[in-house]
Amino acid sequence: MAQLWGGRFTKETDQLVYNFNASITFDQKFYKQDIEGSIAHVVMLGKQGILTKEEMQKIVKCLDEIRSDVERGKLEISAEYEDIHSFVEATLINRLADVGKKLHTGRSRNDQVALDMRLYTRLEILHMDELLEELLKVLLKIMEEHIQTIMPGFTHLQKAQPITLAHHMGAYFEMFKRDRERLYDIFKRMNYCPLGSGALAGTTYPLDRDYTAELMGFFGPTLNSMDGVSDRDYLIEFLSALSTIMMHLSRFSEEIIIWNSNEYQFVELDDAYSTGSSIMPQKKNPDIAELVRGKTGRVYGALMSLLTTMKGIPLAYNKDMQEDKELAFDAMDTVKGCVALFTGMLSTMKFNQDIMEKSSKNGFTNATDAADYLVNHGVPFRDAHGIVGQIVLYCVDKNIAIDDMSIEELKAISPVFEEDVYEAVSMETCVNKRLTIGAPGKEAMEQVIALERKYLEESCDRLWFDLGENMLDIVEDV
Ligand code: ARG
Repeated sequence: MAQLWGGRFTKETDQLVYNFNASITFDQKFYKQDIEGSIAHVVMLGKQGILTKEEMQKIVKCLDEIRSDVERGKLEISAEYEDIHSFVEATLINRLADVGKKLHTGRSRNDQVALDMRLYTRLEILHMDELLEELLKVLLKIMEEHIQTIMPGFTHLQKAQPITLAHHMGAYFEMFKRDRERLYDIFKRMNYCPLGSGALAGTTYPLDRDYTAELMGFFGPTLNSMDGVSDRDYLIEFLSALSTIMMHLSRFSEEIIIWNSNEYQFVELDDAYSTGSSIMPQKKNPDIAELVRGKTGRVYGALMSLLTTMKGIPLAYNKDMQEDKELAFDAMDTVKGCVALFTGMLSTMKFNQDIMEKSSKNGFTNATDAADYLVNHGVPFRDAHGIVGQIVLYCVDKNIAIDDMSIEELKAISPVFEEDVYEAVSMETCVNKRLTIGAPGKEAMEQVIALERKYLEESCDRLWFDLGENMLDIVEDV
C-alpha cells in the first residue's frame, strides 16, 4: 500500500478498503494525460515564481523521463499505488527527492483527475471523429459508384418504392455526418480547463489559469471551481454521442445481416470479414455485424451508468465520481473498434446489383408510379389507387410483375392505359423522376453527392486545428 495522505492517520488502511478504494488498475490508462497536466502545471508555477526556474526545469525534465520510461516499458506502473496521480508523484519524489515534493503545490487530486479525464476524453473525441471520417469516405465512394444501381426501398420491411443503392447509403452518410457534428459540438463545449479549481474552492497561490489552459490547447479555464472539479457533463454527452453512433451502426448491421442472408443475397461479405460454423460447412456468417449490433447495449449501459452515478452527487467532488472511468473507457474502446471494423467490412462488401434490381421489380415497387400515371391522365388519385390495387391482385394471382402485363390486360382493368405506361412504370423512370433534393433521382443524387464531398473536405482536421502547442515542444522550451 502506498498512499499520499498518511499524515493524519494512526492506523493502516484495511487491505479490503484499500483495494475497494484504489483506481490504479484502470486510471493508469491516462498516465500520459496525468503527466501532461503536471508538466503544464509546473511550467505555470515556474512562470509565476511559485517554483524557481531551476526547480521547474528539474521537475519537467523528470516528468518527461517518467513518461518515456513508462512508454518504453522501462518503468512499470505499480498497482501498489492508490491511483495514477500517486504513482507519478511518488516516482518523481523517488527520483528528485525534495524538489519532487513541490509538484503538487496549488493542486488537488480533484482538479487533477478532472483535468486528466477531460484530456483523455478530448483525445478520444478526436480519434472518433477521424474514424467516422473514414467511414464517411467509404460511404461516399459507394454512393458515387451506385447512383444507377436500383434496389427496393422498404417500409415495414416490405418492398415499397424503388430507390438506388446510392440513396440508401446516403441515408447512413447523413446519420454519421450528424454523429460527427455532435462530436464537434461536444468538443466546443468541453474544451475548457478545470486545473486550478483546487479541491473545490480554488487556491491561495497566484496561479495563472489562463496560461495552463493555453499550454494544453484549451479555449480557457473553467469559470467555477466547484463545477470545475465535479462536472462530468462532457463525458455524459460523449457517451450519449457514442450511443447514437452505435444505434446507427446497429441499424446498419441489421440491414447487412438481412441483405447477406440466402433469401436476399443483396450483398456478399468478404471472406476476411465473415466467419464459419464449426458444424455446418456451408455457413458464412456475418458475425462482425452481429457483434456490432450486440455491443450497442454495452455502450448504452455506460451512458445509463454514469447518468445514474451523477444524479445524486452533491457539490463538489465525491468519490462516486471515480466510477466515471471503467465503463467510459470500455465504451470508448468498444465504439472505436466497432467503427473501424464496420468500415473495413463495408469497403470490402460486394453488392449484387442484378439481384437488387430484380428484387425491386418483383415487389410491385412501381405501384405508386402506376397510380400516378393514371392521375396524370385525369383519374382521381383515390380511384387510381383502387385500379392499381386490382392490377396488383391480378399480378399476384398470375405471379407476374406489372410491367409483364400486356396492354390488353391493362386496358381490361382501366381503358386509360396506353403503350407509354411501360416507360412510365419502368424502374429507371420511377427512380429518376424523383428529383427533389434528397430523393433518389440521378440529378438530385448527384447534387447531394457534391454537397457531401464538399462537407468531407471542409470538416477534415477542423478539430486538430484548435489544439494548442504540443507538450513535447513545451518540454524542449523550458
Ligand atoms: N481516483 C480518484 C477519481 O478517480 C481521483 C481523485 C481522488 N480525490 C480524492 N479526493 N479522493 O476520482
